[in-house]
Amino acid sequence: MIYFDHAATTPPYEDVAKTVAEVMARHYGNPSSLHRLGEESAKLLDRAREVSAAALGVRPREIVFTGGATESNNMAIKGVALQFAGRGKHLITTETEHPSVLESVKQMVSLGWEATVLPVDGEGKVTPEQVRGALRPDTVLVSVMHVNNETGAIQPVEDIGRLLKSSAPRVLFHVDGVQGFGKLPISLTEGSIDLYSLSAHKLRGPKGVGLLYVREGLQLVPLLAGGGQEGGYRSGTENIPYIVAFSKALRLAAEARDARTTKLYRLRGQLIQGLAEIPELTVNSPALGAPHIVHFSYSGMKAEALLHMLEEEAFTYPPARRALPSEVNPAVFCWPWVNPRISPHRVFGSVWAMNMKSET
Ligand SMILES: Cc1ncc(COP(=O)(O)O)c(C=O)c1O
Repeated sequence: MIYFDHAATTPPYEDVAKTVAEVMARHYGNPSSLHRLGEESAKLLDRAREVSAAALGVRPREIVFTGGATESNNMAIKGVALQFAGRGKHLITTETEHPSVLESVKQMVSLGWEATVLPVDGEGKVTPEQVRGALRPDTVLVSVMHVNNETGAIQPVEDIGRLLKSSAPRVLFHVDGVQGFGKLPISLTEGSIDLYSLSAHKLRGPKGVGLLYVREGLQLVPLLAGGGQEGGYRSGTENIPYIVAFSKALRLAAEARDARTTKLYRLRGQLIQGLAEIPELTVNSPALGAPHIVHFSYSGMKAEALLHMLEEEAFTYPPARRALPSEVNPAVFCWPWVNPRISPHRVFGSVWAMNMKSET
């Protein structure tokens, strides 16, 4: 089986899975407890925060561990909207954000906020000028994803951030970095991004853990009230095994980024070249898209039917694999996820450097 669904989730590193099991078995103390077991867990938590902060190039106190990027995105959007309601009630985002952003914005609209949802161009992108044009005196937050999880479109988030800091410095900027981190460079030190969401399971870490980078000095209304863990932003006993494993996956994602990106672009190029040989097929991903996502349409049949057909044929008939890059190891095979809400004819697949024969 070749697994082509890495934008949906990635298989955890073996070492990361081992870390979860080891920490869960040995370090079960509550980090808020003052006894030795608790202190050991607190130390692991501190260390994981330091490792994660180093991977992102930020300060440990700017990291809030969450239950995944859905939670991080909710925390950023609702937390800012509620905190700065006195300043204004206008939010800006784009039409191709992840549902955890779009639905959070919708919820705020239902509570009396207003939102501008920017349309994307044919390549799935927005421009800093569109953001500038949508700014209002009562705008409090702009939220734009770095890389789209379905098309692979790369948004000019650093340019948008710089534009906001120079022309509207009181407007906060949130970036959903889930699909970009570990594949594309991103600078959080420049100060143009105030909030940045990540999810562990997109980086070969465990599911159910993520983080929100909150720029130092910025206050949000917490969504969860309780014992005050995670600097008061995320009450609830911390999931130490997952947090430690996540920090390991983050470190690995950051360390090997350039080599991984080069391999992924090569693999993506081969895949696109193969797909281009099929006349009924159109590759929709932008030429300068993210290295790990390929989005295509097939006019011959509905995407779901195509997937099932490919799934069957891929195991048995080599011709069905003419679209696959030669370096893909046929030992790991499975087909991309289809989102029938977008179009019945569209399919997208996502690759990871581990699809290379040399790595499996
Ligand atoms: C761009 C993007 N944002 C947010 C999420 C949500 O992440 P999680 O599964 O950790 O809640 C995903 C996952 O599909 C995603 O691709």
